[in-house]
Amino acid sequence: MKNFRHTRITGGTAIIGAMKSKLALLGGLGANKFLRDYWQKKPLLIRQAIPGFNGLLDPRQLIALACTEDVQARLVTQQRGKFELRQAPFEPQDFDLAGKVKWSVLVQGVNHHLPEAAALLKNFSFIPHARLDDLMVSYAPKGGGVGPHFDSYDVFLLQGSGHRRWQISSQSDRSLIAGAPLRILSDFRAEQEWVLEAGDMLYLPPHYAHNGIAEDDCMTYSIGFRTPAYQELAEQFLVYLQDRIEVDGMYADPGLKTQQHPSEISAAMLQQAEKAINKVRWDREDIANFLGCYLSEPKPHIFFSTPGRPLSPAKFRQTLQKHGVKLDLKSQMLCHSGWIFINGEAHRADESDYPVLRTLADERELTALTDIPAGLNELLYQWYLDGYIAPV
Ligand code: SIN
Ligand code: CO
Repeated sequence: MKNFRHTRITGGTAIIGAMKSKLALLGGLGANKFLRDYWQKKPLLIRQAIPGFNGLLDPRQLIALACTEDVQARLVTQQRGKFELRQAPFEPQDFDLAGKVKWSVLVQGVNHHLPEAAALLKNFSFIPHARLDDLMVSYAPKGGGVGPHFDSYDVFLLQGSGHRRWQISSQSDRSLIAGAPLRILSDFRAEQEWVLEAGDMLYLPPHYAHNGIAEDDCMTYSIGFRTPAYQELAEQFLVYLQDRIEVDGMYADPGLKTQQHPSEISAAMLQQAEKAINKVRWDREDIANFLGCYLSEPKPHIFFSTPGRPLSPAKFRQTLQKHGVKLDLKSQMLCHSGWIFINGEAHRADESDYPVLRTLADERELTALTDIPAGLNELLYQWYLDGYIAPV
């Protein structure tokens, strides 16, 4: 059960392909109106956001994924109102829970394992890739859920198979049950509720209290976004900066004077240190570079598989010309003003290569390329060897 790639996944591509033409994702609202009126502001329920969508996985396949190495998964059980939490690694028998308790399994980063999940995320490209976190999929039999809580990020809760009752509240009381293994609101007061069925979707802004309870065998697809805390951003920027700063000179005190207390840091010493530290400078390009690296950095559990028997550079070039190339499902690629960021690395692109690489970042795929400059081929070849991209 360890290797998910051996599990057969059916149906997904056809559904995503079919739904593309008549996608009513935002209920006919249009991305601009949604962003203006709802994004980060208020919830929105969209009935039949994706007509015909019934999910990409069945419970057995999701459990197989939860049992796969390096997959982040959680199992939440609930008995007489008391919640318990277990984190991966799991064995299939961990899910032999039928009837004993209410439970739910939640698997993060499904888009890193399933091409159909990555295709589903493309429908959310009206939000910049830099804001996207991942696709989480949950399964719960009747009564299962993770309890009333709030998240600190925006989320689209898309219903797959089955039904889920969503209760939401604009309450400002965010006190949590002390000592609970999950963040559960101690006084949740539902203000609105709906039962969602396959294809329905609920958008929630950050910090909006919600509670989802499975009405039957229920699978929910959560498209989650990320909002780095300023503290984390600033700390990480200092880490980034420490490898890049250059401050000339060394402490010198040819005019040293005797001092009454040898243990005291003198004002002269302090002044000299202050002057040196004030030489640390950064500009907007440093910040853009940092942001590109930081936001495209894979999470710590993510590893790339390098090709077993790699193509030669010449063969790779031919393949590129004939078939094109696609990003590995785990790759994160961003760009800014001539800079390309992939999986935490920054590359300055030639003026003519930049639009090509930006298309790869936007679409996660480049169709057959007729003209490939040597520099671009070299860069793409290196990414291919690193497992970041693969021929289509
Ligand atoms: C779930 O899918 O059960 C939980 C999703 C959420 O509440 O964020
Ligand atoms: Co939530």
